[in-house]
Amino acid sequence: MRFQLNGTPVEIPSSMADDRLLWLLRDHFALNGPKYGCGSGVCGACVVLVDGEPQRACLMAAADADGRKVVTLEGLGAGHADGLHPVQRAWIEASVPQCGYCQNGQVMTAAALLAANPDAGEDEIAAAMDDVVCRCGTQTRIRAALALAQDKLREGA
Ligand code: FES
Repeated sequence: MRFQLNGTPVEIPSSMADDRLLWLLRDHFALNGPKYGCGSGVCGACVVLVDGEPQRACLMAAADADGRKVVTLEGLGAGHADGLHPVQRAWIEASVPQCGYCQNGQVMTAAALLAANPDAGEDEIAAAMDDVVCRCGTQTRIRAALALAQDKLREGA
């Protein structure tokens, strides 16, 4: 079984095929962007992009990545001049993180949303982002960063 991980073809070791994708990424590939939070699909800390769609890696079987394209936080900025996706640059400019634990899920979910709908309005943003839990209360800065990212994408940054 093989899949593309951050643009590179990789193999799924047969010993990990029954594990969750999150553990394959963290333990085998040493990609620690996606975090283990609830482990039950509720918090969003583990979000990665699978064929461009946000997926909760704590719920997805590693074997289900076979033949697909997986992007983690580590690969999100690939192809951008400074190695940072516009959403990541907006996050830095808006100083979003507090403890930082949920930020992988916030950034990956926001990037997927804006890729699908760069002009997403308040309701669409709420629908996409509200189930990515931040217990520090950074939601106001997350919304500000999303608006900044939308500006950057409109400018082609
Ligand atoms: Fe996957 Fe919480 S760790 S949703």
